[in-house]
Amino acid sequence: MTLADYNLKYLQKGLYWGLKPHSLVVDSVKFLPLNAKILDLGCGEGRNSLFLAGKGFDLTAIDIAEEGIKKLKKFAKKENLNINAYVSDVKSYLKNCQEFDAIFGINVLQFIDQNNIFSVIKKTQSKTKPNGLNVVASFIATSQKAKKAPAAKGRYLFGKGELKKLYKDFQILFYEEKMGDWETHKQPRHRHFVVRLIAKKAT
Ligand SMILES: C[S@@+](CC[C@H](N)C(=O)[O-])C[C@H]1O[C@@H](n2cnc3c(N)ncnc32)[C@H](O)[C@@H]1O
Repeated sequence: MTLADYNLKYLQKGLYWGLKPHSLVVDSVKFLPLNAKILDLGCGEGRNSLFLAGKGFDLTAIDIAEEGIKKLKKFAKKENLNINAYVSDVKSYLKNCQEFDAIFGINVLQFIDQNNIFSVIKKTQSKTKPNGLNVVASFIATSQKAKKAPAAKGRYLFGKGELKKLYKDFQILFYEEKMGDWETHKQPRHRHFVVRLIAKKAT
């Protein structure tokens, strides 16, 4: 989907991605220090940020789609949750932000192009405090052929094992590559090959 598509989806009533957090986000909570300062990259309408803020973490959420950020702010207000939410591009935000105890990238990295994805990963890692976490869920391509159509749209998909290699200097707490669950959003039922990672930065 394009940015315009996302804005249109987020303008619709209710939450396009639902309110239920991504399962990896739920699984990551046990690794997070109390009061952790968290950055949610490509937060959409904020289902994961809302969940984490509800657990008492200090949340900053960014997304390039203005309508997603508006929706997040509306829901946060309704739930009486304090979330710093900004319209921003992942690449530019990471350049100037401070460090976080944990950075989440849930289904957003597959939208970054080949020229930027590796510096985005590097920046994500460098903006993570020692002992901090990175939590990533993304689509992957299981063959060179499967990379072609996304590449034509300016998107880079990791290959098999690639994300793990990019996190070789972190301690891997959880890593999985598999055919994902059936999507629950309002698209025709479909599945993607996905990678899920929880990794801890060394001291
Ligand atoms: C598949 S949605 C996932 C939303 C959210 N992480 C979730 O799990 O519900 C991808 C989101 O990434 C955002 N996005 C795509 N490219 C981006 C970029 N370069 N910078 C910031 N956000 C981006 C889109 O606007 C969209 O809201």
